[in-house]
Amino acid sequence: MDIPERLIDTWIFNTNVGHSPKRFTTAHRSILHCRKAAHNKFYKEQVAQPYQNPTDRRIQQRMAQGQKGRMPYSWFYFDLVKNVSREKTFHSCQIPQKLSEMLILSCTQPGDVVLVHFGGSGAELEVCRRLGRRFLTAEIDPTYHAMILERLRTGQICEKYRLTKRTVPVKELAIQPMLWSE
Ligand SMILES: C[S@@+](CC[C@H](N)C(=O)[O-])C[C@H]1O[C@@H](n2cnc3c(N)ncnc32)[C@H](O)[C@@H]1O
Repeated sequence: MDIPERLIDTWIFNTNVGHSPKRFTTAHRSILHCRKAAHNKFYKEQVAQPYQNPTDRRIQQRMAQGQKGRMPYSWFYFDLVKNVSREKTFHSCQIPQKLSEMLILSCTQPGDVVLVHFGGSGAELEVCRRLGRRFLTAEIDPTYHAMILERLRTGQICEKYRLTKRTVPVKELAIQPMLWSE
């Protein structure tokens, strides 16, 4: 596919791991932001940030014209998914749902289809469902895959997939076809 523009957005977070005396502590991840058309759809009003100077005359004019806020910057602060978080599962590399939500809202409308390349914990799929977006995904790891299916079926994270209960007997897991779409 011809992708005329590739941008890098950045997710930043606080961290208390990964320190080294010989380099800066990594506390960000890059997000590849590709646009297949220069006239791509981008729904600023769905992700607008509050204006920083709402008493400024020009800002007040914009607000009077119905603008809800400023365009977010290309870097975003969201906390890492903490071990004690309600959304935490035993998946080792979860993306915070608030981050996924902002990205999905920025470029889709209800009913649109989101391709979530890697299902992981199913976190993004849950966000899609909550926002009324359809989705298509795949997950290669049978344990994560089973968790996704159960999460989608029940609408919650089953206790056995919580971080504190890591031992999921593999024989109990139903290995299903790898693609799920909705
Ligand atoms: C970084 S994690 C995704 C986490 C997800 N964003 C979340 O918040 O839960 C990447 C996932 O991709 C899966 N994966 C890696 N290679 C894959 C492949 N070729 N096909 C499908 N899934 C794959 C891994 O098993 C892992 O669960």
